[in-house]
Parts: sequence; C-alpha cells; structure tokens
Amino acid sequence: MTFTQKHLLGIEPLHPTEITAILDLADQYVDLNRRDQKHADALAGLTQINMFFENSTRTQASFELAGKRLGADVMNMAMQASSIKKGETLIDTALTLNAMHPDLLVVRHPHSGAVDLLAQKVNCAVLNAGDGKHEHPTQALLDALTIRRAKGRLHRLNIAICGDIAHSRVARSNLILLGKMENRIRLVGPPTLMPSQIDAFGCEVYHDMREGLQDVDVVMMLRLQRERMDGGFIPSEREYYHRYGLDAEKLSEAKPDAIVMHPGPMNRGVEIDGDIADDINRSVIQEQVEMGVAVRMAAMDLLARNLRETRRQTEVMA
Ligand code: NCD
Repeated sequence: MTFTQKHLLGIEPLHPTEITAILDLADQYVDLNRRDQKHADALAGLTQINMFFENSTRTQASFELAGKRLGADVMNMAMQASSIKKGETLIDTALTLNAMHPDLLVVRHPHSGAVDLLAQKVNCAVLNAGDGKHEHPTQALLDALTIRRAKGRLHRLNIAICGDIAHSRVARSNLILLGKMENRIRLVGPPTLMPSQIDAFGCEVYHDMREGLQDVDVVMMLRLQRERMDGGFIPSEREYYHRYGLDAEKLSEAKPDAIVMHPGPMNRGVEIDGDIADDINRSVIQEQVEMGVAVRMAAMDLLARNLRETRRQTEVMA
C-alpha cells in the first residue's frame, strides 16, 4: 500500500511516494474526465459533505464534481447560513454532521489549524480545502500534476513562486511539496510579503522580479490576498504591478519554454498581465483547473480505500 493516510490535512505528512501515488491515479482520472461517460464508482454509496467557511469558486466546484463523478452522495453545506452564524462552535457543527455518518468531509476554514482540530473529532476522512495561511494540499497536488504533465518530470526544476507569499497557503503547500520532490525553489516578492521564518524554508529569496525569474522552468504567480492583510503591505497596486506584476518583459527572463501558473482567482493588471494569463503557449492556468478535478478524485478515492479497510478491520476485531 503506497498511500497510508487517513486524512489529507496537508502536504507536510505525505511521503514522496504517496504524492506520486495520488498523481499517478489522477492521470487516469484526467482520461476519464475527457470522455463523454465520466462516471466511475470508487465512492459509490459514500456520503461527502463540503463545508466551506470561506468563499470559494474553483475548489468547491471541483470537489463537488469530483465526488459526483465517482458516485458519492455530495452535500454542500451553506456555512454562511448555518448555525455558525448563531454562535455554534466549529466542533459542535462537526459533531452534528458526524452524527449523519459522512464518509468524506471537505473543509475550508479561515483559521490555520481548524481543519486538523476538526479531524480529531469525527470518524470519517477529512480533506483540507484550505485553512487560513497554513495549507491547501489539493492545490499543491494539482499544481504538481500540471507541472509534471507540462515538463515531463517533477524534480530538478527551477521554480519561482512570486508575489504575496506571506499570506498564501498555496505557496506554503507548494513549497513543501516541490521541496520534497527535490526542485530548486525561489521566492520572489517584496520583503513585506515574505513570511517571517523565511530561512526555515531553505530557498533562495529575490526582491527583484527580473533576477528572480532568470532561467526558471516554472513561474507560479499568487494573488495579493488583501483579506488577510491588516495594514499597508504594498504602496499601491500600480506600483506593485510595475515591480512584481508578470508581464511579457519580465517573463522574457525565464526559459523560453517556461510555463506560467496561477491558482485563481486572478487580479488581472495587479499580479499578472491579462494577455500573459490568456496566452495558451505560456499559461497553464486552465490546465490547473482541469487537473484540480482529477487530483481531488484521486485523493478521495485513495482516502476512501483506506477508510473502508480500517472499517473492515474494526469489524473483524469486534
Ligand atoms: C487559493 C486559496 O483559496 O487559497 N485559491 C484557490 O483555492 N484556487 C488562492 C487564493 O485565494 O488566492
């Protein structure tokens, strides 16, 4: 068994072989998703509940599609309208849902660590769909799959992660994953948007975008996450675009076949030029969305296999 996890709470606990196991299975689901008949039955009979305490377009939609394509019963909890608004704690909500016997719980929450806490209280598989500034494992996995398919490998690549790194769970999960797979990672952005314990990550840091992009294979752009900023981190959006926005001129420093990525949602004209984002010869932003569905199918499939096995063993012992 190459994938032994009970939950997918982050990239941190994963072994490189487990990352590869998810990506290999996801490759198969990419093929399935391109057919007219997109159904498989890996999650047949199981119940998946999506709890999003923070707004989401792509992530929620792709988790929903992923579950439905694999035959699960999928419920989206409207968390804005739920009892949370009436003061119920996260744990009470989790216990209430747990009593309905879900098998897969997909959770996004504004607080780092909230999803880990919740996973300790329920007896089903929990997937972290983004917790505060901490982790967003399925995003890093879909980014890895996109890179692996575009570059033919996922090791020894020069990868620049650019922009608002301090507030980004996407950057954190990607740093961990791409580091585990032995790539050379550069962080590019203004000093105010670099995380405080930057040295712990052991990667090169650049404050000059042109220098940072020199000869890289992959340019990963990040959104300016204003909702997580509590003050003036940048002088103005115009100034930011001038220094750190990805345009054709800055991109010309990268390798001629470098790919451009962005997790979405994009602020065109703030961190990325609209023409670059739409350039099908450079940008793999649409592929990232496609890979997102396949990676989530693979992750839920593997977790469900482990869940069924654990339940079977518990029954044998009882
Ligand atoms: C990211 C997120 O929510 O962390 N978006 C996503 O999941 N596609 C990045 C972001 O919000 O900028």
